[in-house]
Amino acid sequence: MKSVILNLAVAASFAAGAAAQPHHHGHHHHKKNAGAEKREVETTYVPATVTQYMLDDKVVSADEAKNGLDNGLYVVVGETTPTFTAPSAPAVTSSSSSTSKSDAVFIQKVTSSSSSSAAPTTTSSAPASTSSSSDSTGYATGIDADFPDGKIKCDHFPEEYGAVPLEWLGLGGWSGLQFTPSYKIGDLSISFIETGVKGMAKTTGFYSYACPEGYVKSQWPSAQGSTKQSVGGLYCNDDGYLELSRPESKTLCEPGVPGITINNKMEKNVAICRTDYPGIEAMVIPVDAQPGAVRELANIDSANYYYWDNKPTTLQYYVNQPGVSVEDGCVWDCAEDHDECGNWAPTILGVGQSTDGNTYISLFPNTPTSSAKPKMNINITGDVSIACYFQDGEYAVSDAGCTTTIPSGGKAVVTFTDA
Ligand SMILES: *[C@@H]1O[C@H](CO)[C@@H](O)[C@H](O)[C@H]1NC(C)=O
Repeated sequence: MKSVILNLAVAASFAAGAAAQPHHHGHHHHKKNAGAEKREVETTYVPATVTQYMLDDKVVSADEAKNGLDNGLYVVVGETTPTFTAPSAPAVTSSSSSTSKSDAVFIQKVTSSSSSSAAPTTTSSAPASTSSSSDSTGYATGIDADFPDGKIKCDHFPEEYGAVPLEWLGLGGWSGLQFTPSYKIGDLSISFIETGVKGMAKTTGFYSYACPEGYVKSQWPSAQGSTKQSVGGLYCNDDGYLELSRPESKTLCEPGVPGITINNKMEKNVAICRTDYPGIEAMVIPVDAQPGAVRELANIDSANYYYWDNKPTTLQYYVNQPGVSVEDGCVWDCAEDHDECGNWAPTILGVGQSTDGNTYISLFPNTPTSSAKPKMNINITGDVSIACYFQDGEYAVSDAGCTTTIPSGGKAVVTFTDA
């Protein structure tokens, strides 16, 4: 998977029968020390140990996929979402952190940077030039301002409306591009999605973006990928203008649920990178925990956020090794230290507020993708239900990590200290 450029994640499980099971990705490591849990647990929590490679909606062999990737014929455009599903009841001493693992990788044939033969040729219905963008139009700006629907050109990154440009990705500030030449407003699903990579011509599709710390993106279409790929961002229409894709929210960003903070007590920074979801699902949305800094970690009320396949979702933060900058580490495939960075970061924090009002916070290793271990200690404290940490090379609870909860309105602090 070294030739990965970008990913487009799909939250699908391809294990037969597993799709209907929110816990299909869970572990059963805990059963060895939990005598009371028996067969149901074993049958419900199916560990995903096999990676399937999907090319144009078809499964291809791992060998074929790897050859294609190694030879630069394919790029990875996504994988199953590593979304953890919170336990339905507040965890007491439960060791069943229902974290999840990727089990399908979506690959795409590499096309030349100009018009690809594979792609339906809509080409750039290039935005007719003329004057500049919103600034001159007199609309109110700011993160709480309504986005002027259909008034700003697609080649203008809408920083004025709170979106945060991610220059290091080389996508004009956008966090991800999903070109959907055959999509029409009102479609129930999207059957053709091409992931934008550096240098690709601009065209119709979904342009995703980061929001500031503590905020989350509020734009994604109700139509999602027909093979359950997630799609997110503003819609760049055929005329070359940006439209709200979820018009019930007029802004680009919305405040998350407050209460979770990061406290970095080390002398090196930590790049914490949230997956862009729904969207291409690369771990590119940064929280830069500088030495000594306290930063907010956005959380969501899962019941009122993006649903994948009718299931509520959570936020996933890939935590890089100390000392990796957000520019270096908040990417899918890092230029340096490939095996411990970006998609291969050592550990993941998953957060989400459940309908019961509790926020579930999981800290779990990025296995089987990465075997790296954090070169620091991580401790989650505050109004937490159980201890959850990574200390001296071990996770609390089990090798699969831990899940703790805070009540509605509660606070949690994730502290990084030198190992
Ligand atoms: C985590 O922090 C709590 C509260 O300060 C402390 O009691 C506990 O010992 C810490 N755990 C680890 C593993 O450092």
